[in-house]
Amino acid sequence: MTPDDAVRQALCTHMGREFAAHFQYLAMSAWLAGEGLPETSGFFGGQASEEHVHAMKFLQFIVDTGGPVEIPAVDAPAAAFASAEALVGSALAQEEQITRWIEDLVHLARDHRDLATEAFLQWFIREQVEEVATMTELLQVVRHAGPSLLLVEDYVTRWKPTRAR
Ligand code: FEO
Repeated sequence: MTPDDAVRQALCTHMGREFAAHFQYLAMSAWLAGEGLPETSGFFGGQASEEHVHAMKFLQFIVDTGGPVEIPAVDAPAAAFASAEALVGSALAQEEQITRWIEDLVHLARDHRDLATEAFLQWFIREQVEEVATMTELLQVVRHAGPSLLLVEDYVTRWKPTRAR
């Protein structure tokens, strides 16, 4: 079933948000690298890659259901942060916002009796639970570490193999 135009446009809009998240995580990764935190920078680089995959899932779904794909303009990401804690807090807020947008999309798909879009979005509902949990935990670790950000580097180094998918 092809999404009606309101659903398709909402999917295109959200695809743009996932690309924006990709760029935001890249900017965070770059800022962390500049702070001399290579492991945490690498972790955020990995998050950036995940967001690109998310955006491409939307793109492919829109293609598969008849298109057309319209890629929206993306605002420049924030490039400077007051602290690592502020950066991670911002990342958590971003994930919480994306969760709300995904939930809104599910409700829109239901309102339009669009079962294919609703089924497609279920993966993102589960993914957002993990993304919010990951960033919540990282924020807790950063707060525990206080000024000892090398502890965060150590945590991220150990986290990657145990929680990688
Ligand atoms: Fe694609 Fe982290 O939301």
